[in-house]
Amino acid sequence: RKHIISIPDFSREELELVVATAASLKAAPRNDLLRGRLIASCFFEPSTRTRLSFETSVQRLGGTVIGFSDGANTSAKKGETLADTIKIISSYTDAVVMRHPKEGAARLASEFSAVPVINGGDGANQHPTQTLLDLFTIRETQGRLDKLSLAFVGDLKYGRTVHSLAQALSLFDCHFYFVAPDALAMPDYLCEELDEKGIAYTLCDSLEEVIPLVDILYMTRVQRERFDEAEFKKIQGQYVLRADMFRHARDNLRVLHPLPRVDEITPDVDATPYAYYFEQAKNGVFARQALLALVLNETV
Ligand code: CP
Repeated sequence: RKHIISIPDFSREELELVVATAASLKAAPRNDLLRGRLIASCFFEPSTRTRLSFETSVQRLGGTVIGFSDGANTSAKKGETLADTIKIISSYTDAVVMRHPKEGAARLASEFSAVPVINGGDGANQHPTQTLLDLFTIRETQGRLDKLSLAFVGDLKYGRTVHSLAQALSLFDCHFYFVAPDALAMPDYLCEELDEKGIAYTLCDSLEEVIPLVDILYMTRVQRERFDEAEFKKIQGQYVLRADMFRHARDNLRVLHPLPRVDEITPDVDATPYAYYFEQAKNGVFARQALLALVLNETV
């Protein structure tokens, strides 16, 4: 596959290949797979984990990185189109990792790029590399990707990570619980996709009720930057996970969160055996190393 834009572009076998490759790179780290490769890291929207784990991935595999972390300091500010920007950058690099606030920006960039484009998040649309590290983490904690019960909690409307992950797991016969305020419910188009595939999902408004039912509790932050402040205040703090809520949890339950968290997981959860979000974030390096190596046709 040349470009990594959207999870529905992947087959189940391709997802499994990235997960298996990430596991092998975590078990036996490599330092040579990207030697001589130059990767552009173009972030038009803020990021901590995605940008730095991509840059770490490249440098730990022997490659080098150029790029920017603030689109306002680029010639986009002077009116240059994304198409022109990508034509130029892709003429002297081996791959372009890009985050952009507009849905569809990564797909557009791929149409003008001479080298693979990897979507590091496009608006409220997709975050495919987060999904790859999530799948890797789910398999690492549960030993499989099939026949799991997962709850997605929080902002399911604007949270691009849950969109990508639900689409990926719809290839693996899982059961979903969607826990969200009405204003932040899973988008209709995604529920319709699940209906068409015959995937079971349950809408639920109680966080405490779903905890005993699931293997993975996937918490998310309300995406304050994507909607009106008055609306945000109405739903802020509605779903907060605390350490005293695990009384009836399964032993194998793991709490994931794409991070950053704001107030949806209290810090006392970090010390419970269920918290796995920091290891999940660390897994971003291995999943992105796997992806880069596979996209650039390196044998792992
Ligand atoms: N999970 C994630 O995308 O984090 P950043 O916004 O910090 O990259």
